[in-house]
Order: sequence, then C-alpha cells, then structure tokens
Amino acid sequence: MSLIFCSRTDDPDEWRAAFAETIPDLKFRIWPDVGDVDAVEVALVWDPMQEHLLCFPNLKLIASLGAGVDHLLATTTLPDGVPMTRIVDDNLTQSMREYVLLQTLYCHRQAPAYMVQQRAREWRLRIQSFARERRVGIMGLGVLGAAAADALQQIGFPVSGWSRRQKTLPGVAGFAGLSKLDEFLAATDILICLLPHTPDTEGIINSRTLSILPDGACVINAARGGLVVEADLIVALESGRLAHAVLDVTREEPLASDDPLWRAPNITITPHVASITDAKSGARLVADNIRRVRAGEAPHHVVDPKAGY
Ligand code: NDP
Ligand code: OXD
Repeated sequence: MSLIFCSRTDDPDEWRAAFAETIPDLKFRIWPDVGDVDAVEVALVWDPMQEHLLCFPNLKLIASLGAGVDHLLATTTLPDGVPMTRIVDDNLTQSMREYVLLQTLYCHRQAPAYMVQQRAREWRLRIQSFARERRVGIMGLGVLGAAAADALQQIGFPVSGWSRRQKTLPGVAGFAGLSKLDEFLAATDILICLLPHTPDTEGIINSRTLSILPDGACVINAARGGLVVEADLIVALESGRLAHAVLDVTREEPLASDDPLWRAPNITITPHVASITDAKSGARLVADNIRRVRAGEAPHHVVDPKAGY
C-alpha cells in the first residue's frame, strides 16, 4: 500500500518520518513519483491535483494537509465515492486560539496607534475601554471559531458568533444564517473571520457589510483571503470608518510587493501563519483515518464537497 504526497509548502521528510512511526508498512511517495498506481490508496494533498487523482483505481482516502479545503475543491476532480478529510487537530486549534487572542488584544489595547506614536516620539495616553465593553463577533463557529470564542471569553470580552446553522456555545450569543448577519455585524466592535471560503462566503466582507459595523470597528481575517473584497476594505480603512484590519490571508498569496493592501493605512499583514499543520500530530490523525478506511469504517472529519467545507 502506498501514499502519494503532494505539497510544495509542507516538508515531505517530516511527514515521511511521522508515518514511518505510525504506519511502518506504508510506502511514502512524493508526487509526481507515483510508482505503481494500483498500490496508491491514500493521497495526502495541499497542492491542486486537477484530474490526477482519477489515475489511482484503488484510492480510498484523500486527506487534506490543512483545515481549509476550498482550493482543493475548486481545482481537483474528486473520484466518486472517495472521502476527503481535513485536519482537525489540537495543535492547529491552539495556534489559532493564540493568533486570535494576540490580534484581538493588539486591536483592543490600541497597540497599532501606540506604535505610530512611538515612531513619532509622542508620549500621549489614549482612552482605553475594558474588555467587557468591547464586543467581539466571530464569523464561523466551527472548530476554530468555537476555540477562539472560548479564549476571548476567558479574557472578559462579550462574544457573539455567526454560523450557517444555529449554535449554542456557553456564553456566546449565536446568530445563524444570512437573515441574522446584519444584526450580528451591527453589534460587533472587533470582527473575527473564521469562515471557510465557499461560494456562499465569497466576498462576504464588502462595502455593504463593512458599513454595518460600528464606527471604529476592527476586522481580523484569519481564514481565507477570498472572504474579503480587498478594494472595499482599503476604502473603509482610508476613510477612517475602520480603526484597524489584520489580515493573515489575502486573495493572492504571496501578496505581490506592489499590492495596494501593503500601503493601506492601519493595516497589519502576516503571511498566512496564524496556524500551521504540525506534521507529527497531523500524521497521527491521518494514520487513524487510514486504519479506519482499511477496516471499512468511515474516516473522521470528512468534508462535504457540496457545502464546500
Ligand atoms: P469548520 O468547518 O469547523 O467551521 C466552519 C464554520 O463556518 C461553521 O461554524 C459553519 O457553520 C460556518 N459557515 C460555513 N459556511 C457558512 C455560511 N455560508 N454562513 C455562515 N456560516 C458559515 O472550520 P474550521 O473552524 O476548522 O476552519 C475555518 C477556516 O479557517 C478554514 O476553512 C480555513 O479556511 C481557515 N484556516 C486558516 C488558517 C490560517 O493559518 N490562517 C489555519 C487553519 C484554517 P455551521 O457550524 O453551521 O456548519
Ligand atoms: C489551513 C491553513 O487551512 O493552514 O489549514 O490555512
């Protein structure tokens, strides 16, 4: 039995070593060196595979190397009946908790403004509200959104969340569906995006939705660049309607050096590092799913290609 690995961004040696410990009889092959196509039962992928996955007649599992699968669903033809799974892992979740907490506190405590003041050698105190007075709204209350909600509540922020289906998380005011989006946004001072990028969420942060946020709101996008209409975000920053935006993700990655986002005022950009799959724990999850499909059981964390996540 062999596994075909296809990613230019993940280190194959780390994954090979992790699988050697968990499933020693698994042959680890790196795309495009597929070897015997009949032996390939698992595809571990991040890069788009176009039609290539159709070449493996005995494929039993397509495992995404990340939590988000938007780009794979958009670019890869999936063989009928082969499940695609995604990464749901405590290490990934913990890193996202840290990132969201860091960036929320950074906005809440006006760190960007103090950095500007420091560069100008300006000693000036700013009025500071308490966490309990700053309403944080999380778009996407899945694995990562729920973990972020928990971390933010522990600091004292009032937290609300928006999802497709109604969610009841302890202490979180839940809003569901498009009919509740505007009400959710109107009561959000710091907006955190942890939605998957799907046809329904494409460009959901745009001039209309940004205009519903209270004056001086902040936006943190740690999900996918495709959620944001970047030109609209720049206008909202330039006009001062938004106090700050933090983008870990952008439509084009890497972001071109002449992209207007770099020059927008009051913006913080990180290079898609909010949370990165850990090869050791990721391989344990994939190995467990391999054992399950070999035993004829359904794998965990299966993606619904129709919903897009
Ligand atoms: P989940 O699938 O667990 O959660 C997705 C959430 O979004 C769910 O609450 C879902 O609603 C909600 N949702 C989906 N579509 C809609 C819609 N049309 N309207 C309203 N709500 C919607 O995903 P994760 O929490 O694991 O991950 C979220 C995203 O984070 C990933 O898709 C990925 O793009 C991104 N990510 C970014 C990383 C980074 O480093 N920047 C790292 C890892 C992930 P419901 O609960 O009703 O299904
Ligand atoms: C992911 C990511 O989806 O790293 O896992 O963006």
